[in-house]
Amino acid sequence: MSLLGFLHKPAATLADLRPGAEVHCHILPGVDDGFQQPEDSYEALRRLQAMGVERVQLTPHMNLDDFAGNTEEMLQERFEAFRMALPADLTLRLSLGAEYMVNEQLDLQRPFLCFAGRRVLIEMSYYYESRNIKDAIFELVLQDYHPVLAHPERYLYYSRDLKPLEEYVRMGCSLQLNLLSLTPYYSPETVKMGYSLLDKGLYRYAGTDLHSLRQLDRLEAMKIDRKYLDKIQQLLDNNRELFD
Ligand SMILES: [Fe+2]
Repeated sequence: MSLLGFLHKPAATLADLRPGAEVHCHILPGVDDGFQQPEDSYEALRRLQAMGVERVQLTPHMNLDDFAGNTEEMLQERFEAFRMALPADLTLRLSLGAEYMVNEQLDLQRPFLCFAGRRVLIEMSYYYESRNIKDAIFELVLQDYHPVLAHPERYLYYSRDLKPLEEYVRMGCSLQLNLLSLTPYYSPETVKMGYSLLDKGLYRYAGTDLHSLRQLDRLEAMKIDRKYLDKIQQLLDNNRELFD
Protein backbone atom coordinates (compact mmCIF):
# COMPACT_ATOMS: atom_id res chain seq x y z
CA MET A 1 0.00 0.00 0.00
CA SER A 2 1.32 3.45 -0.88
CA LEU A 3 1.93 5.92 1.91
CA LEU A 4 -1.02 7.91 0.66
CA GLY A 5 -3.15 4.75 0.71
CA PHE A 6 -2.08 4.08 4.29
CA LEU A 7 -2.91 7.61 5.38
CA HIS A 8 -6.34 7.26 3.88
CA LYS A 9 -7.01 3.84 5.32
CA PRO A 10 -10.75 3.95 6.04
CA ALA A 11 -11.94 3.87 9.64
CA ALA A 12 -12.77 0.43 10.95
CA THR A 13 -16.25 -0.94 11.64
CA LEU A 14 -17.50 -3.58 14.07
CA ALA A 15 -17.05 -6.11 11.26
CA ASP A 16 -13.27 -5.61 11.70
CA LEU A 17 -13.57 -6.84 15.28
CA ARG A 18 -14.54 -10.19 16.81
CA PRO A 19 -17.52 -9.41 19.06
CA GLY A 20 -18.07 -12.96 20.40
CA ALA A 21 -20.39 -12.17 23.29
CA GLU A 22 -22.92 -9.48 24.16
CA VAL A 23 -23.35 -8.59 27.84
CA HIS A 24 -25.98 -5.82 27.85
CA CYS A 25 -29.07 -5.50 25.64
CA HIS A 26 -32.84 -5.05 25.78
CA ILE A 27 -33.77 -7.67 23.20
CA LEU A 28 -36.15 -9.68 25.41
CA PRO A 29 -39.40 -8.34 23.89
CA GLY A 30 -42.22 -6.56 25.67
CA VAL A 31 -40.73 -6.17 29.15
CA ASP A 32 -39.16 -2.69 29.14
CA ASP A 33 -38.39 0.24 26.81
CA GLY A 34 -36.40 -2.04 24.49
CA PHE A 35 -37.71 -4.37 21.80
CA GLN A 36 -41.47 -4.93 21.73
CA GLN A 37 -42.10 -7.44 18.93
CA PRO A 38 -40.50 -10.91 18.97
CA GLU A 39 -39.94 -10.68 15.18
CA ASP A 40 -37.75 -7.59 15.70
CA SER A 41 -35.85 -9.38 18.47
CA TYR A 42 -35.23 -12.34 16.13
CA GLU A 43 -33.97 -9.99 13.44
CA ALA A 44 -31.61 -8.29 15.91
CA LEU A 45 -30.25 -11.66 17.06
CA ARG A 46 -29.86 -12.77 13.43
CA ARG A 47 -27.83 -9.66 12.64
CA LEU A 48 -25.69 -10.04 15.79
CA GLN A 49 -25.10 -13.66 14.86
CA ALA A 50 -23.96 -12.54 11.38
CA MET A 51 -21.40 -10.27 13.11
CA GLY A 52 -19.97 -13.29 14.90
CA VAL A 53 -21.77 -12.99 18.24
CA GLU A 54 -22.27 -16.43 19.79
CA ARG A 55 -23.50 -15.57 23.29
CA VAL A 56 -26.09 -12.96 24.21
CA GLN A 57 -26.88 -11.86 27.71
CA LEU A 58 -30.38 -10.31 27.82
CA THR A 59 -30.60 -7.59 30.48
CA PRO A 60 -34.09 -6.06 30.89
CA HIS A 61 -34.47 -3.06 33.15
CA MET A 62 -35.27 -3.64 36.79
CA ASN A 63 -36.45 -0.26 37.96
CA LEU A 64 -39.40 0.16 40.30
CA ASP A 65 -40.09 3.70 39.03
CA ASP A 66 -40.50 2.77 35.36
CA PHE A 67 -41.05 -0.99 35.16
CA ALA A 68 -42.74 -1.86 38.43
CA GLY A 69 -44.12 -5.14 37.02
CA ASN A 70 -40.69 -6.64 36.38
CA THR A 71 -39.66 -9.26 38.89
CA GLU A 72 -36.95 -11.87 38.63
CA GLU A 73 -39.57 -14.66 38.39
CA MET A 74 -41.62 -12.90 35.71
CA LEU A 75 -38.52 -12.15 33.60
CA GLN A 76 -37.38 -15.75 33.93
CA GLU A 77 -40.75 -16.98 32.64
CA ARG A 78 -40.74 -14.53 29.71
CA PHE A 79 -37.18 -15.50 28.91
CA GLU A 80 -37.95 -19.24 28.86
CA ALA A 81 -40.96 -18.68 26.57
CA PHE A 82 -38.87 -16.51 24.23
CA ARG A 83 -36.06 -19.04 24.13
CA MET A 84 -38.42 -21.94 23.43
CA ALA A 85 -39.93 -20.10 20.46
CA LEU A 86 -36.57 -19.09 18.94
CA PRO A 87 -36.38 -19.79 15.17
CA ALA A 88 -34.10 -22.72 14.32
CA ASP A 89 -31.59 -20.62 12.37
CA LEU A 90 -30.67 -18.74 15.54
CA THR A 91 -27.92 -20.83 17.05
CA LEU A 92 -26.43 -18.26 19.44
CA ARG A 93 -26.80 -19.08 23.11
CA LEU A 94 -28.93 -16.82 25.22
CA SER A 95 -28.89 -16.17 28.93
CA LEU A 96 -30.82 -13.87 31.21
CA GLY A 97 -29.53 -11.15 33.49
CA ALA A 98 -31.04 -7.77 34.34
CA GLU A 99 -30.00 -4.14 34.57
CA TYR A 100 -30.72 -2.89 38.09
CA MET A 101 -31.31 0.81 38.69
CA VAL A 102 -29.44 1.84 41.80
CA ASN A 103 -31.73 4.08 43.83
CA GLU A 104 -33.12 4.00 47.31
CA GLN A 105 -35.84 1.51 46.36
CA LEU A 106 -33.31 -1.10 45.27
CA ASP A 107 -33.46 -3.97 47.73
CA LEU A 108 -29.89 -5.17 48.06
CA GLN A 109 -31.00 -8.39 49.75
CA ARG A 110 -33.06 -9.54 46.74
CA PRO A 111 -32.11 -12.62 44.71
CA PHE A 112 -30.33 -10.82 41.87
CA LEU A 113 -30.41 -12.12 38.31
CA CYS A 114 -26.69 -12.57 37.82
CA PHE A 115 -24.59 -13.44 34.82
CA ALA A 116 -21.28 -15.23 34.44
CA GLY A 117 -21.08 -16.31 38.04
CA ARG A 118 -22.18 -13.55 40.41
CA ARG A 119 -21.94 -10.50 38.16
CA VAL A 120 -24.76 -7.99 38.56
CA LEU A 121 -25.34 -5.23 35.99
CA ILE A 122 -26.24 -1.91 37.63
CA GLU A 123 -27.01 1.57 36.32
CA MET A 124 -27.79 5.10 37.53
CA SER A 125 -29.85 8.01 36.31
CA TYR A 126 -28.29 10.03 33.47
CA TYR A 127 -29.13 13.23 35.36
CA TYR A 128 -27.84 12.74 38.87
CA GLU A 129 -25.63 10.44 40.85
CA SER A 130 -27.49 7.87 42.94
CA ARG A 131 -27.12 8.86 46.56
CA ASN A 132 -26.50 5.26 47.55
CA ILE A 133 -24.18 4.20 44.70
CA LYS A 134 -21.12 3.71 46.90
CA ASP A 135 -23.11 1.88 49.55
CA ALA A 136 -24.69 -0.34 46.89
CA ILE A 137 -21.32 -1.28 45.37
CA PHE A 138 -19.89 -1.89 48.85
CA GLU A 139 -22.86 -4.06 49.87
CA LEU A 140 -22.83 -6.06 46.62
CA VAL A 141 -19.10 -6.76 46.93
CA LEU A 142 -19.63 -7.69 50.59
CA GLN A 143 -22.23 -10.23 49.49
CA ASP A 144 -19.71 -11.71 47.08
CA TYR A 145 -21.37 -10.27 43.98
CA HIS A 146 -19.33 -8.62 41.25
CA PRO A 147 -21.11 -5.37 40.24
CA VAL A 148 -20.75 -4.13 36.66
CA LEU A 149 -21.69 -0.47 36.15
CA ALA A 150 -23.32 0.10 32.75
CA HIS A 151 -22.32 3.00 30.47
CA PRO A 152 -20.42 5.27 32.93
CA GLU A 153 -19.61 7.57 29.98
CA ARG A 154 -23.28 8.56 29.95
CA TYR A 155 -23.12 9.85 33.53
CA LEU A 156 -21.95 13.29 32.49
CA TYR A 157 -22.00 14.56 36.07
CA TYR A 158 -18.67 12.73 36.33
CA SER A 159 -17.21 14.26 33.18
CA ARG A 160 -15.13 16.89 34.99
CA ASP A 161 -13.73 14.48 37.50
CA LEU A 162 -13.44 10.75 36.86
CA LYS A 163 -12.16 10.00 40.37
CA PRO A 164 -15.46 8.58 41.68
CA LEU A 165 -15.46 6.08 38.79
CA GLU A 166 -11.86 5.17 39.57
CA GLU A 167 -12.90 4.63 43.16
CA TYR A 168 -15.77 2.30 42.15
CA VAL A 169 -13.28 0.24 40.13
CA ARG A 170 -10.97 0.05 43.15
CA MET A 171 -13.93 -1.09 45.26
CA GLY A 172 -14.45 -4.06 42.92
CA CYS A 173 -16.94 -2.71 40.38
CA SER A 174 -16.26 -3.22 36.65
CA LEU A 175 -17.21 -0.60 34.07
CA GLN A 176 -19.02 -1.44 30.82
CA LEU A 177 -18.72 0.76 27.74
CA ASN A 178 -21.69 1.27 25.42
CA LEU A 179 -20.21 0.93 21.94
CA LEU A 180 -22.59 3.57 20.53
CA SER A 181 -21.19 6.05 23.05
CA LEU A 182 -18.12 6.36 20.82
CA THR A 183 -20.34 7.74 18.03
CA PRO A 184 -22.36 10.99 18.03
CA TYR A 185 -25.48 8.91 18.85
CA TYR A 186 -25.88 10.11 22.48
CA SER A 187 -23.93 13.39 22.74
CA PRO A 188 -20.49 14.90 21.97
CA GLU A 189 -19.77 14.95 25.71
CA THR A 190 -20.46 11.23 25.91
CA VAL A 191 -17.97 10.57 23.08
CA LYS A 192 -15.34 12.59 24.90
CA MET A 193 -15.89 10.86 28.21
CA GLY A 194 -15.95 7.43 26.54
CA TYR A 195 -12.54 7.99 24.99
CA SER A 196 -11.16 9.40 28.28
CA LEU A 197 -12.22 6.26 30.11
CA LEU A 198 -10.79 4.10 27.31
CA ASP A 199 -7.49 6.01 27.47
CA LYS A 200 -7.33 5.50 31.21
CA GLY A 201 -7.98 1.76 30.79
CA LEU A 202 -10.95 1.89 33.17
CA TYR A 203 -13.38 -0.25 31.15
CA ARG A 204 -13.60 -3.99 31.53
CA TYR A 205 -16.44 -4.88 29.13
CA ALA A 206 -18.17 -3.44 26.04
CA GLY A 207 -21.85 -3.88 25.20
CA THR A 208 -24.47 -2.61 22.79
CA ASP A 209 -27.29 -1.71 25.24
CA LEU A 210 -29.45 -2.37 22.19
CA HIS A 211 -33.06 -1.14 22.49
CA SER A 212 -34.17 -1.15 18.84
CA LEU A 213 -33.33 -2.11 15.27
CA ARG A 214 -32.65 1.56 14.61
CA GLN A 215 -29.83 1.46 17.14
CA LEU A 216 -28.54 -1.70 15.48
CA ASP A 217 -28.41 0.18 12.14
CA ARG A 218 -26.27 2.81 13.84
CA LEU A 219 -24.06 0.17 15.39
CA GLU A 220 -23.46 -1.59 12.07
CA ALA A 221 -22.59 1.75 10.43
CA MET A 222 -20.36 2.80 13.32
CA LYS A 223 -16.87 3.98 12.39
CA ILE A 224 -14.15 3.16 14.89
CA ASP A 225 -10.88 5.05 15.11
CA ARG A 226 -8.27 2.41 14.16
CA LYS A 227 -6.11 3.63 17.02
CA TYR A 228 -8.66 2.18 19.46
CA LEU A 229 -9.30 -1.16 17.75
CA ASP A 230 -7.02 -3.16 20.04
CA LYS A 231 -8.47 -1.60 23.17
CA ILE A 232 -12.04 -2.30 22.11
CA GLN A 233 -11.15 -5.82 21.01
CA GLN A 234 -9.72 -6.44 24.48
CA LEU A 235 -13.05 -5.45 26.06
CA LEU A 236 -14.90 -7.75 23.67
CA ASP A 237 -12.47 -10.55 24.54
CA ASN A 238 -13.22 -9.90 28.22
CA ASN A 239 -16.95 -10.31 27.40
CA ARG A 240 -16.21 -13.59 25.69
CA GLU A 241 -14.19 -14.92 28.62
CA LEU A 242 -17.21 -14.52 30.88
CA PHE A 243 -18.98 -17.30 29.03
CA ASP A 244 -16.11 -19.81 28.58
FE1 LIG B 1 -29.47 -0.88 29.31
